[in-house]
Amino acid sequence: MQPVAPRLATRTFDVEQVRSEFPVLSRRIHDLPLVYLDNAATTQKPLTVLERIDAYYRSENANVHRGVHTLSQEATEAYESVRPTMQAFLGAGSAQEIVFTKGTTDAINVVAGSMSRGYFRKGDEILLTGMEHHSNIVPWQLAAEATGAVVKVVPVDDRGQLDVEAYQALLGPKTRMVAIVHVSNTLGTINPIRQMIADAHSMGIPVLVDGAQAVAHGPVNVQDLDCDFYCMSAHKVFGPTGTGVLYGKAEWLNQLPPYQGGGDMISAVSFERTTYNEIPHKFEAGTPNIAGVIGMGAAIDYLSEFDIADVQRHEHQLVAHATGELEALGGIRLIGTADQKTAVVSFLLDGLHPYDVASVIDRFGVAVRSGHHCTQPLMDQYRIPGTLRASFALYNTLDEVDRLVDAVRRARKFLS
Ligand SMILES: Cc1ncc(COP(=O)(O)O)c(C=O)c1O
Repeated sequence: MQPVAPRLATRTFDVEQVRSEFPVLSRRIHDLPLVYLDNAATTQKPLTVLERIDAYYRSENANVHRGVHTLSQEATEAYESVRPTMQAFLGAGSAQEIVFTKGTTDAINVVAGSMSRGYFRKGDEILLTGMEHHSNIVPWQLAAEATGAVVKVVPVDDRGQLDVEAYQALLGPKTRMVAIVHVSNTLGTINPIRQMIADAHSMGIPVLVDGAQAVAHGPVNVQDLDCDFYCMSAHKVFGPTGTGVLYGKAEWLNQLPPYQGGGDMISAVSFERTTYNEIPHKFEAGTPNIAGVIGMGAAIDYLSEFDIADVQRHEHQLVAHATGELEALGGIRLIGTADQKTAVVSFLLDGLHPYDVASVIDRFGVAVRSGHHCTQPLMDQYRIPGTLRASFALYNTLDEVDRLVDAVRRARKFLS
């Protein structure tokens, strides 16, 4: 298959215009306009995505890859057309390297599960970092349990940055796999993955990148990064839940055994011997989330209308404003102050539990996340039960940041 050229922006970034395209943003919560700052958990969906999914079910619904009838062929075409879309979005060399999955968690499980079947041996080391989401910890622990491999961890410093020297020292002849998060969902830290991938490759070690929090906030080019695997979820980038992508270099996808068996992933089946389909289908057993994949394509089409540098500038302003205003309140502990950060501000109020604060903030119509954010080892390191996390997307505004800060101020007054 052919390389696909990256898209060029077709519109100027205008936050009010953007907001008008996300119906849920006009909702009121407790009789106040919703301020949605839980985008790291999931993003809202623009009309184009909602309409595309609706149109699919209204007039195109059929199973893919299986029918000669027109509807099935149309559904297959719509579904398969998303592969080059995702190829261009991630900068992959070939659409064959785009495996549709249920999301990031599923994508990591595909690789870890597949590698458990013959790749890892007793004593092999799997290198993770201290800021991984549980999705990029537990699948490797399962793989280690099944094979006798061991999990090693790169330390994180107090500001939420990886200790890159420790990482380099941990890479060794026993290291068989590196799995690292591109952007931390709890800290917002952008990790220096390009260098880390080059370090691992200099010793012949493959690298998987968890890109769940990266793709909505900056350009990703897997060929430029030279990662072996890159995982993402559509719902973090304005698409539907239950859909995502595993990018894998063709040489890896060809080499690894299937993770699940079933329809579509086979070439021929008999009770004596089954042969497998070509990549990427070898990793896509069963009827996929067809509407979800089509919706993911619409979401990427939507995001690709913008110059991502405009989006980054806007989100950077939101983070800087939120950080400054929250610090100005006093009695706040920021968790995650790395030099390279994206659209997340995690914090605690002295003497108050994040759950209590989040519940009061909700009364003011402001949605933030509280808890461990599926990064319990990181919480243990900071010796905290969790944080409050405001996470931004392209449709958030400086006024919304002010509403957050005001709600935090009032919550503290109420709870103290
Ligand atoms: C960094 C990171 N990795 C992985 C995941 C898992 O994504 P999903 O639940 O969409 O599979 C998340 C979700 O919050 C995340 O933030």
